[in-house]
Amino acid sequence: MVALKFPCWRPFFGCFFVCLFGLPLFAQSLPNGPGKETFESVCSLCHAPTAPMGKQWTQSQWETKVTEMLQEEPDVTPEERAAIVAYLSANFKPGGKIYINKARAKDLETAFEIPTADAEAIVRYRQQNGDFKTLDDLKKVTGLDISKIQVKKDLLEF
Ligand code: HEC
Repeated sequence: MVALKFPCWRPFFGCFFVCLFGLPLFAQSLPNGPGKETFESVCSLCHAPTAPMGKQWTQSQWETKVTEMLQEEPDVTPEERAAIVAYLSANFKPGGKIYINKARAKDLETAFEIPTADAEAIVRYRQQNGDFKTLDDLKKVTGLDISKIQVKKDLLEF
């Protein structure tokens, strides 16, 4: 009886943690707004929907990217595509928020105008130590010129 208990509970706990902690955290990291649900369901087919979080693109750049991403998804309707482009261009736009814990190295490089090696150091630090919580955490990244980050501190989103 006792021996059976652990294997029976284990799948429950696995699901419990993924459902209660994993998914909401994941979902919360994306900004809310019209088109979010369409974006999440369509753009999570091949990769995490966090891929755009770090881009500061114009509407026409997003139109091009969405068309490129969905060339092999003919079932996505023009209305859904428009909703996705609207969501992306409202939230990941020039001068918009910089998602320091989600952005890819090359997007950090562009957003902060820092060298490739520094952008990669930010991502590496994040992978090894977990999410940045404050601007001070960024001071711990070896070699990073913090003044470059401070210039855009108001755009930082943790
Ligand atoms: C059919 C599979 C597929 C779908 C559906 C898809 N993507 Fe992608 N996406 C990829 C692949 C493959 C890459 C390149 C690998 C990577 O960077 O992760 C990519 C990369 C990206 C990148 C990073 C590109 C860069 O230059 O940094 C963005 C942004 C992106 N996708 C956005 C989207 C959006 C928005 C949608 C929904 C409209 C979407 N993707 C749907 C396959 C897909």
